[in-house]
Amino acid sequence: MNFELTEEQRAIRDLARDFAQKEIAPIAAQIDETGEFPLKTIRQMGELGLMGIEISEEYGGAGLDCVSYVLAVEQISQVCASHGTIMSVNNSLYCYGIKKFGTDEQKHKFLEPIASGKKIGAFSLTEPQSGSDAGNMKVRAVRDGDAYIINGRKSWVTSGPVADFIVLFATTNPELKHRGTACFLVDTHQPGFAAGKKEPKLGIRASATCEITYDNYRAPASTMLGKDGDGFKIAMSVLDAGRIGIAAQALGIAQAAYEASVAYSKEREAFGSKIGEFQAIQWMIADMATRIAASRLLIYNAAVKKDRGEKFSTEASMAKLFASETAMWVTTKAIQVHGGAGYSKELPVERYFRDAKITEIYEGTSEIQRLVIAPRVRGDFDAESDIDLFVIIKNEDAARQRALTQLGVDVDLKYNVLLGDFVVPRARFERMAQIREPLYQTLVSEGIELWTRRPKTLSAFVSKKRRTISSGRARTLSKAAIASRSTARTMRSLRSRLPRS
Ligand code: CAA
Repeated sequence: MNFELTEEQRAIRDLARDFAQKEIAPIAAQIDETGEFPLKTIRQMGELGLMGIEISEEYGGAGLDCVSYVLAVEQISQVCASHGTIMSVNNSLYCYGIKKFGTDEQKHKFLEPIASGKKIGAFSLTEPQSGSDAGNMKVRAVRDGDAYIINGRKSWVTSGPVADFIVLFATTNPELKHRGTACFLVDTHQPGFAAGKKEPKLGIRASATCEITYDNYRAPASTMLGKDGDGFKIAMSVLDAGRIGIAAQALGIAQAAYEASVAYSKEREAFGSKIGEFQAIQWMIADMATRIAASRLLIYNAAVKKDRGEKFSTEASMAKLFASETAMWVTTKAIQVHGGAGYSKELPVERYFRDAKITEIYEGTSEIQRLVIAPRVRGDFDAESDIDLFVIIKNEDAARQRALTQLGVDVDLKYNVLLGDFVVPRARFERMAQIREPLYQTLVSEGIELWTRRPKTLSAFVSKKRRTISSGRARTLSKAAIASRSTARTMRSLRSRLPRS
């Protein structure tokens, strides 16, 4: 992979570095102390195109790529991680979702002012009872004519106190769990919206974080991003992109702590030598540099994959996991290198240490990143696979025809039917979820079997009530079949396991 930067990429990196040195460095320690939101510098960053880097110029952005974005986030975060957070939430958690899932009308109304930095965007998924378990949402949206009425409480909303618009996730049907989630573009200046308690935080203290209460907030149906039921997948997809930004923020923090440590080790003397002459310090410096270099490569790798339009969930989680744990490790060692001086607020290393911690927590904890990575590298899970559920029909054409009609599936025989079984493409599975009870009964009475590559899909499909009658009929694939990520191989494996009639 070629990581040579283009002229444009170098230009945005240098622009971000110069701005950070000139405008942010003088206020970084002070806003950490006071917790004041840096509105002036954020507006200036908007004017420079840093608040919507990957958004096309048509919608107010800079029209650059993800590599440019991570280069800029790193430079800003190296000087002030609070600015890095505000920038990252605006660019990826807010803008990216609308760029990917919004209509043209939504983009003009909700993307343009935020990508151009005139207004501020936020993202609101977390609730008091659900952080990592993001699908367990209680904020409720109920349809009322041409709008949805939203009620409930969200928490840990970064930029919540100052945001003009928010990408909000709410449940429209709690019974469907994560599949009953919708995403709304909320205007914070409308009645029913109230920003609440501001969190007193350990680090990134100048980024404002708060609870938000919705009290009969009326969201026009036209402000729904994607379709009703798409919310959870939109959130996951947006977080994939967001995690690259947080990885770059972590990298910036680690780089700052590393550079401070090298400089200090060349100045400070002990036992008659500069401390940098001692092997104990040199080894820490060597490990810092190595981990930072590895983080950088993981981040560029994820960004390049995203720019190429390839899948990047695994790479984004790897980059965030490694870079955030590197930031925590490097900043801890940086304090060690500095000794007592590092523990004092007189130097910025203690701020780097406090700021680093959040990168292991928000946009998915390190444990969640491992949860995302493990099944994907094992081949158990392919979130973007277009095939979810295999329905195997043994009873010849009549049953197949009935089942197809019930499914509302307009089956293209060429693609979907294979040796007496047919495959339901992912998009149609959504419709199946809504009619799953009667459908399931039909399938069972016709002696049809259900197979899936992912056990969770099946358990969601076959409700608890049905599980008793499902035994022996609905089965998940064996580990061997699950291990196969390729549909063709899964189909071969399925066929070989088909009962002989
Ligand atoms: N893209 C698209 N769809 C995806 C996906 C992805 N990356 N990952 C999963 N999905 C889909 C799956 O295909 C599946 O679809 P079906 O319903 O069709 O089966 C569905 O989502 C559910 O997937 P899982 O069964 O894997 O879901 P899960 O509930 O077991 O676990 C999780 C998912 C990875 C744990 C997820 O809940 C998660 O990432 N949790 C952490 C949430 C998080 O990062 N919160 C931070 C909030 S933002 C923040 O930090 C505040 C801020 O302002 C900075």
